[in-house]
Amino acid sequence: MSLKSWKLLGSHFKKNAQKKITDYFSEDPNRIKKFSLQWESFYVDYSKNLLDKGTLDLLITMAEESGLYKAIDAYFQGGRINETEGRAVLHTALRQIIPSTIMIDGENISPKIEEVKKQMFDFADRVISGKWKGHTGKSITHVVNIGIGGSDLGPAMVTEALEFYSNHLKLTFVSNLDGDHVEEVIKKIDSETTLFVIVSKSFTTQETISNGKTIKNWFLNHAPESAISNHFIAVSANLEKVTDFGIITENIFPINDWVGGRFSLWSSVGLAICLAIGPKNYEDLLQGAGKMDQHFRTADFKENIPVILALITFWYNNFWKVETEAIIPYSQYLRNLPAYLQQAFMESNGKGVDRNGKPVNYETGNIIWGASGTNAQHAFFQLMHQGTRMIPADFIGFAKPLYEGNDHQDKLMSNFFAQTQALMQGKNIENVREDLINQGKSRKEIEMLLPFKVFEGNRPSNTILIEQLTPANLGSLISLYEHKIFVQGIIWNIFSYDQWGVELGKQLANNILKDFDKKQIDHHDPSTQGLIEYYKKFRN
Ligand code: F6P
Repeated sequence: MSLKSWKLLGSHFKKNAQKKITDYFSEDPNRIKKFSLQWESFYVDYSKNLLDKGTLDLLITMAEESGLYKAIDAYFQGGRINETEGRAVLHTALRQIIPSTIMIDGENISPKIEEVKKQMFDFADRVISGKWKGHTGKSITHVVNIGIGGSDLGPAMVTEALEFYSNHLKLTFVSNLDGDHVEEVIKKIDSETTLFVIVSKSFTTQETISNGKTIKNWFLNHAPESAISNHFIAVSANLEKVTDFGIITENIFPINDWVGGRFSLWSSVGLAICLAIGPKNYEDLLQGAGKMDQHFRTADFKENIPVILALITFWYNNFWKVETEAIIPYSQYLRNLPAYLQQAFMESNGKGVDRNGKPVNYETGNIIWGASGTNAQHAFFQLMHQGTRMIPADFIGFAKPLYEGNDHQDKLMSNFFAQTQALMQGKNIENVREDLINQGKSRKEIEMLLPFKVFEGNRPSNTILIEQLTPANLGSLISLYEHKIFVQGIIWNIFSYDQWGVELGKQLANNILKDFDKKQIDHHDPSTQGLIEYYKKFRN
């Protein structure tokens, strides 16, 4: 990378690599004021990181040098920033607080967005109120979302995250090509009262079409062909394929090519969410995202939450050479946020060539993983505290619980705060020794136990403390991470909005599928050949 500030960051890193987070706190009594941000109902503390003002200034200069200001404008104004597919990236247009003119191919897309949203909301109202009837005249009680990747993870994660706001409709998600998944779903549904929403932008995705067909076949064993229009809905950009599948035009919710799959929950792909929590809450989700969009678009980089968090990740990824990053929401509702963000980050920024098609000579694409706290404390936190790797982590928590009347919240939050404190401070040998003496251990026992009980500390984290888990705040949180992905892509000079890396496996799977029925196959590598032959012995 030839950016001047990137080189300066390299020397800055070497000069400060021995410093500890706690040293930075000792040097600057005002650190917390300088390294925290308050925005709407978000409080973001990023003081527990291995950086100082000098680091941040250099990182911000680098963002400017990368052309981030211009890039943000192009992103929001519908520039074709997904260059390898020749598309704009406009999920932000779906959640504008006040719809403005956005021109694509000479057409203002905002009126159409409002029209599709109205179609979604009217439909959701009819289903929720019971006016939409199944083929025997009964109201709908169960919705099955059939999709995968962005057509599943977003709707599934948000529906689960906003369970508190949900109505009487039961939501089920089927995604995997594993036939046992769809069979388990079929076991629990009633053909008279279930609505099937097939979500596929392309309507060619093997998983979704296979699950859709299996469910349709099952359905037709319980209902006449004419009943399909009462029970099958499609969300897609491929109207022809949807019609071929047998779904009537009135039951199709369109999606545009400028909405990427992993950023599509704001479009008609969010229909399952809208059904589960109702149009008002869904609109709040959109508005919350829209507010974060405005913050990202207008705030100075020094006060810009997605920019700051992206730069911190970049700092660890490219200078500290950390391999992974954890996301730990202290809310059971958000247990699937890490899995959702895995697709968003890793499908976007897992790229090895730059915008000129040249291999990059630096690491891109942070690896995201995580689980909900406090569960994670009893699973993988041991490695985060005492393992050999540094794993920067985002801790996400909510100041107010959704249910009152129990005494869990203070306990939860004390754990939330204690973990980032423990990761940063650690526990030195003197303190461990003192504890063991106080516990009455013998000298011999103390010497034996000492090395195992020391915590090195100096492990960085960000704390995102949000007032309460509301649809609007969840919208803002997701939007925050979407923009973090965007900033990283600009700095790494890679294209974040295509996903060619998922294609090869799909092509090979199609070839192998054809080979299962052939008597003689000899064109695969020896390992794959052996596996196919072994597998064929089990086929009926
Ligand atoms: O995994 C590749 C991918 O294209 C994702 O980007 C997308 O979210 C998913 O497949 C599903 O695609 P579709 O909505 O076209 O079925």
